Amino acid sequence: MASRSEVHPIAGAADVVKVRQVARSWALELKLSLVDQTKLVTAASELARNTLDHGHGGTMRVEQVENGLRRGIKLTFEDKGPGIPDIAMALRDGYTTSGGLGLGLSGSRRLVNEFDIKSEVGRGTIVAITRWK
Ligand SMILES: Nc1ncnc2c1ncn2[C@@H]1O[C@H](COP(=O)(O)OP(=O)(O)OP(=O)(O)O)[C@@H](O)[C@H]1O
Ligand SMILES: [Mg+2]
Repeated sequence: MASRSEVHPIAGAADVVKVRQVARSWALELKLSLVDQTKLVTAASELARNTLDHGHGGTMRVEQVENGLRRGIKLTFEDKGPGIPDIAMALRDGYTTSGGLGLGLSGSRRLVNEFDIKSEVGRGTIVAITRWK
């Protein structure tokens, strides 16, 4: 079944706030538990920051997805930035190229049910996450 989706730009700090609000409102609409809402919003916040800071801006697509009887919220972050040369390394706790904590990617992965990352050096990065109800 086709479901609704929206695409939001991530071009500045205010967009990171907006993306958090959008993730929260879709999670609320699906009636995710408060804990699951917070997990999704926290992951969205980290990934939106990465899209902005490392990917030089991009977009977040939000959609409600279904798998049999299960419904969930899927968020897809896409940028056309420099890409990630070594994804396995970038996913390690503490790995950072920017003096951050290096917990954004690894932490968001732990907060969701599905985490998919594709990246090509010189072309950009796509990170898709899903939290199931
Ligand atoms: N969209 C992206 N484009 C290019 N590189 C990225 C992207 N997202 C993450 N990276 C790379 O992966 C590294 C790890 O990301 P992660 O979010 O875990 O840490 P961080 O952003 O450096 O610090 P923080 O803990 O503050 O998020 C980054 O330092 C960066 O090198
Ligand atoms: Mg980060």
